[in-house]
Order: sequence, then structure tokens, then C-alpha cells
Amino acid sequence: MGISTIAAVRTIPDLRAQVRAWRSQGLRIGFVPTMGALHDGHITLVRTAKQRCDKVVVSIFVNPTQFGPNEDFDAYPRDENADIAKLETAQADLVYLPTVDIMYPPGTATTVNVTGLTESLCGAARPGHFQGVTTVVTKLLLQVLPDAAFFGEKDYQQLKTITRMARDLDIPTDIVGVPTVREADSLALSSRNAYLSPAQRSQALALPRTLQAVAKRLCDGSDADAHLAWGRDELLRGGFDSVDYLELCDAEDLTPLTHVGARPARLIVAARIGKTRLLDNIAVG
Ligand code: PAF
Repeated sequence: MGISTIAAVRTIPDLRAQVRAWRSQGLRIGFVPTMGALHDGHITLVRTAKQRCDKVVVSIFVNPTQFGPNEDFDAYPRDENADIAKLETAQADLVYLPTVDIMYPPGTATTVNVTGLTESLCGAARPGHFQGVTTVVTKLLLQVLPDAAFFGEKDYQQLKTITRMARDLDIPTDIVGVPTVREADSLALSSRNAYLSPAQRSQALALPRTLQAVAKRLCDGSDADAHLAWGRDELLRGGFDSVDYLELCDAEDLTPLTHVGARPARLIVAARIGKTRLLDNIAVG
């Protein structure tokens, strides 16, 4: 076992002391919030943060408030030592590992809610999810006070919601979106891919394949409805058990679009294989 080179803190005062010391040296602080179970998508966020900032803080906190009562909070993969080893390799500078009691002390009564953007897509399928995300991300941003925070485009609605939240609340952190990292066969990296059996893992390829096929069909500007319906059927034919949504949306405000036109558009999907819910999205047009 090698000697640990990455500092780890578990309390807000210890976190702030380290960040304050760096800031007093004029260093730019980057932040990557995670729920652990780190994969190459997270490591790409850390590397991007390293390129743009002098010091990078990574938090690992499986946030209970963004899971619904019947979701996978208890089963969510947790391996702190493996995660810390990966962060060392990626040359993160500090890992912040708060407990639930530190994030939500008894008597906590405040939540953060972004209206509009969070009501469709994953917000419709997972009531309360985005309130849990925006509340914990606000708290983390206020605890770390970074210059920039890095989020993957795979969770596209989350990225747009946090960007809006930071703007609306005048949080002085640049929110940076980083392109989705994919396996060689195009499956988007996700901590939840670990739940897939080998057979489900190959069926999951229907997700990126269908997105590409629907995007191609939409590029002639024709009405989206029939193409989206074809895409949902294609996912079911490919082995998915259900499709929460497959939508063509405005790339900024996520309102539904009837066709690809002048405005940047995004094709966004969530579908389930067995108990595993997978997300993906691509730019269209
Ligand atoms: O994307 C995630 O891993 C989580 O939603 C986040 C941003 C770390 C908040 O818990």
C-alpha cells in the first residue's frame, strides 16, 4: 500500500481551513462534487478541473435527499478506499467526505428549489429528486466556495438546473459542463452501469444506438413525434423494459420541441433495464 498523497477532510471547518490557505496564496479552486463509485467520467471532470484551476477539491457524498423512497440509496455502490486511490492517480488535491449529520444536522429546515426546468423529464419521473440535488449542491458550493465547479453533460437536466440555480442565487462559481465520457462501444459511463448483468450490459447499447438513429431522422426538420415514438419502440425491442421518456428539447431551457430548427436542440432519454435506470443525451442538428 503506497503512502497517501491526497489530503482528506471530513468536517466543514477543516475543508474551509484548507481552501482558505490556498486562496490566500492566490490559487484558483476547482470543485468536482460526486457521490463516489468513481469511473472515468468523474476522472475526466477532475482532469478538466486540474487544467483550469490550481487546486481541485472532490466531494464524495451519497446524498439521501435526492433518492426517492423506493430508489437505490442503500444499494448505491460505495467504496471509499478505491475512490480515494483513483483521485490520487488523477492528482486531485483534496477529498471532502462529509457525513449525513454534517450535511443535514438535526433541525435542518431549508431546501433549494428551481422551478420550471426541474418539472419535466427526470423531474416528472423522480419527484423531489432535483430539490435534493439543488439543495446539496448549494450547500457544497457554499462549503467549498470554489471558483469553478464541474458537472458531466450525461446528467444534462441536472447541469442546466445547477447552472440556472447558480445564476439565480448569485453564487460566484462558474458552472462548467463537461462532455459525456463513453465506453468504446458508446455506452455512456455511469456508476449505475455496475448494476447491469453481462446480458443487460449489451442490451443497454440500444440507448446510444437509438439516440443516434433518432437524431439522424430528426435532422431533416420533420415532425418529431413519429420519430420519438419509433425510438421508444426501438428501445423496447432492444431489450429495455420501459422508457421513462425520450424527448426532443430546447438545449437551454429544456422545453419540448416539435422539430429541429434554428435553436440548439438536445435529444434526452431515460429508460430502465430490470431495476436499473439509465440516462443519455446528445446534441441534435
Ligand atoms: O451527479 C451527481 O453525482 C450528484 O447528483 C451530485 C451532483 C454529486 C449531487 O449529489
